[in-house]
Amino acid sequence: MITVQVPLGDRSYDVLVGHGARSELPALLPATARRAAVVTQDGIPFEVDPGIPYERFVIGDGEDHKSLATIEQLSRGFARMGLTRHDVVIGVGGGMVTDVAGFAAASWHRGIPVVHVSTSLVGMVDAAIGGKTGVNIPEGKNLVGAYWQPSGVVCDLDALATLPPREVRCGRGEMAKYHFLTGDDLLAMSEVERIARCVQIKADIVASDEREGGRRALLNYGHTLAHALEIATDHALAHGEAVAVGLVYAAQLAHRMGRIDARRVQQHLDVVGGSYELGTSLPSGLSPDDLVTLMGRDKKVLSDGLTFVLDGPAGVEVVPGVDPALALDALHAMG
Ligand code: GLY
Repeated sequence: MITVQVPLGDRSYDVLVGHGARSELPALLPATARRAAVVTQDGIPFEVDPGIPYERFVIGDGEDHKSLATIEQLSRGFARMGLTRHDVVIGVGGGMVTDVAGFAAASWHRGIPVVHVSTSLVGMVDAAIGGKTGVNIPEGKNLVGAYWQPSGVVCDLDALATLPPREVRCGRGEMAKYHFLTGDDLLAMSEVERIARCVQIKADIVASDEREGGRRALLNYGHTLAHALEIATDHALAHGEAVAVGLVYAAQLAHRMGRIDARRVQQHLDVVGGSYELGTSLPSGLSPDDLVTLMGRDKKVLSDGLTFVLDGPAGVEVVPGVDPALALDALHAMG
């Protein structure tokens, strides 16, 4: 078992990474917690035992259920249960569950403790760490939410054995992103070391910029095109798959802006397409002009115009005011 701390002063918390880590859940709960509301979905690979009395709340699967209606449903359940500030919410599942459970905890009685038990690779290396919570509205993904740090996170690697290959691919997309943020050869590490290292990279970034005033935006490397692709394909391309394409695109764009050379673009292709075995081309049938328009609407844009996270001589950084003609040209290089 590896323990990684997310250092946030008096809101610091531990992330436990290892096979069977869920057995450590009771030790992560706040000492004052009398009862727990366990938020989960059908089909999650294991039940958890928080070691205190609990009720189980099952939410629906899929982006449609990542909604304010689900938050209302949970809140009414918490009310029936009589959940108080002296209790705890436990989110058990992938990124969708921990985002929803986190937001329900953030808003119930204006905020009660939450602990996450992450069961997906994307959740372990990204979604469950760092306190971003929220739900979708018809106008966009994750537009309503709160920063609400958990009191602890469990990454039980036993869950990964049952993960469908597509979910594994999505996690590898986020891992490839960490490769470019740090240069770490994550694939040379054992599984537990690799996941713990990803948690550590994210913890360091979150600790330096919890509310994304600057450095945390680097976690969006590859994400500007990825978000546009998810919308343009109506989520036929899953998030991590879209991030993989977005990483290569970011390199093509950075090259056109004179920030990196052709060798570095090839490294992106080799790492994403070769080492991480992910798709690197645009899905067919998409309009490059429409993708540029969608990228201009990304909620990460700093002001008017196109903003990207791009590699360069000083490493990966946020670059506002990108020329749309270059953004379009880089799309044409994507196959
Ligand atoms: N998933 C990006 C972040 O947590 O900031």
